[in-house]
Amino acid sequence: MADSAPTLRNRKPPAADSTTASAASPDTKKPAPPARAGILTYLITFLALVVALGVTTLAGLYLYELNPNEYFYPNPVPPWEVVPGDTPGNWTVDFSADLEKRDAVVAAFKHAWLAYERDAMGCDEYHPIGHKGTNLTSAGGIGYTVVDSLDTMLIMGLDDEYARARAWVENHLSFDRDAEFNTFETTIRVLGGLLSAYDLTEGDPLYLSLATDLGERLLPVFDTPAGLPYSLVNLAQRKGVMDPDNRGLVSTAEAASLQLEFRYLAFLTEREEFWEKAEEVMNVIRRAVPSNGLATIFMSMQAGRFMSAEIRLGSRGDSYYEYLLKQYLQTGGIEGVYRDMYRAAMDGIHTNMIGVSNNKKLTYTLEIHPRRAEFNKQPLTWVRALKQDHLACFLGGSLMLGATTANSLVLRPSIPPKEEELDERGKRDWATGAGLVETCVDTYRTASGLAPEIVYFRDRVESRGESDWYIKDARPPGEPPVYDARYILRPETVESLFLAWRLTGHPRYREYGWQIFQAIEKHCRVPSGGYASVLNVEEVPVKWEDKMETFLMSETLKYLYLLFSDDKVLPLDEYVFNTEAHPLPIFRPDNIRVGGY
Ligand SMILES: *[C@@H]1O[C@H](CO)[C@@H](O)[C@H](O)[C@H]1NC(C)=O
Ligand SMILES: *[C@@H]1O[C@H](CO)[C@@H](O)[C@H](O)[C@H]1NC(C)=O
Repeated sequence: MADSAPTLRNRKPPAADSTTASAASPDTKKPAPPARAGILTYLITFLALVVALGVTTLAGLYLYELNPNEYFYPNPVPPWEVVPGDTPGNWTVDFSADLEKRDAVVAAFKHAWLAYERDAMGCDEYHPIGHKGTNLTSAGGIGYTVVDSLDTMLIMGLDDEYARARAWVENHLSFDRDAEFNTFETTIRVLGGLLSAYDLTEGDPLYLSLATDLGERLLPVFDTPAGLPYSLVNLAQRKGVMDPDNRGLVSTAEAASLQLEFRYLAFLTEREEFWEKAEEVMNVIRRAVPSNGLATIFMSMQAGRFMSAEIRLGSRGDSYYEYLLKQYLQTGGIEGVYRDMYRAAMDGIHTNMIGVSNNKKLTYTLEIHPRRAEFNKQPLTWVRALKQDHLACFLGGSLMLGATTANSLVLRPSIPPKEEELDERGKRDWATGAGLVETCVDTYRTASGLAPEIVYFRDRVESRGESDWYIKDARPPGEPPVYDARYILRPETVESLFLAWRLTGHPRYREYGWQIFQAIEKHCRVPSGGYASVLNVEEVPVKWEDKMETFLMSETLKYLYLLFSDDKVLPLDEYVFNTEAHPLPIFRPDNIRVGGY
């Protein structure tokens, strides 16, 4: 998943003249009036600037801790809106590999990797058009791209490439970097990558010793009043650091998406501290989260309480929900507490955060935003925003996976599951999940065949022929594109396609995946090597942004490869994928005390 929640900093649009990402686009964005004389104009401009600053940069300062009766409590009563799925057994399930398509994905991976290796080996990030690499900080790289790609090479059987990558890790990788790194990103990409490589090599000690070293350097982030992790970590000083953009806050997804990695590290090293620190975060959240299971996207570090922020399945919210299910799966279903938290959250999502579009009856996710009349003490109200981040597209596959595990009445449901094998929640989640997958695929039906970063759905259709969803503030081709119109090689839809394929065997998921892959090949592939992000999915020929996100090689191409390989590769009952698509084996924690509550 998803990746990450981009920070407020990098959620800002690339060009100064584009409108802002999502939140408020205040009137101050309108062109300034011509400079007429008069202090009034000056004053208005000044005030506008202050408001703009407040809304964009200092958003965190306007948040406050919710008291219990201010939380968003949904109407707990079904019915939830669901769309009917396919009738089971209407197609032939054949999980054999599609070699031609699978090999095309491998070729794409090599096109990405070999360019990176040629131009930027060892650098954290890659810019394929400028043929150069950069590091996250000036203190030197932490293997962001190399470690993120190791397991994909192992899975694809790219032995030569893998051998060179491993040699770099052995000879050059160091975490003794005196600079601040994002705790969450470092954990999911680097720690997760090392742990997967350890498993897939059947225990290459290089990876466990590096993972242990990194885990130890990360551990101090949990030494906080409530036990929630600092957003940043200085790896050399082994010190947690507050995020300067959001002082006193941590985003929920970032705090609650470290657990799969630290728990597996604890299992491998038999060191309980790794387990306990990560688990304590879940204890704090479990105590703070309202009964409907819907968490806002920010928590206070000091008190461990939720702030008056948005509730969403996209950035800063996404992998909280993903990891509730996956923590339950990771230990083979023995930790019922996570199943219960997951069920509560999915109930809350169904009663409040799912919509159905007007024309095509697409099932979509929406957001819930707090609204308070400014500068007075009126009670907080909550409003729906029909906004769906591409990041939220992880949910379709996740719901289908949850339906056949946490909400299944049998140990091994059929493929696809029969109705009588799922409980009420399972049937509900299955239908919603399958519907969300279709919706996310629909967002790829653009001029380029690529999906935008963010779409909005229409509350009602105002005129005939209006589309169900649109890109907010979209500009005509040729004008500077908005942030929402980008495709940055994100994986969430193909991730859901992979899960839907493995759980149904329905060939259409492979067809969708192939279409998306072909659009990436056509529009993102840089002839000299690598893949670039596209600035406006509705403008063809496309304009590029010179960046190849590391999740192209760790997630997008891995999930596409798995979609076209046979089902013996990483079976879903043996592995959970972390939110950076690093597979971690399901294990029984015999050597660790679990479930401390
Ligand atoms: C099942 O297959 C039949 C025959 O191919 C088709 O007409 C029908 O629409 C399918 N049903 C569903 C729900 O997909
Ligand atoms: C990034 O860090 C790596 C590893 O320390 C180093 O080899 C490389 O030269 C650095 N790249 C840049 C552009 O500073």
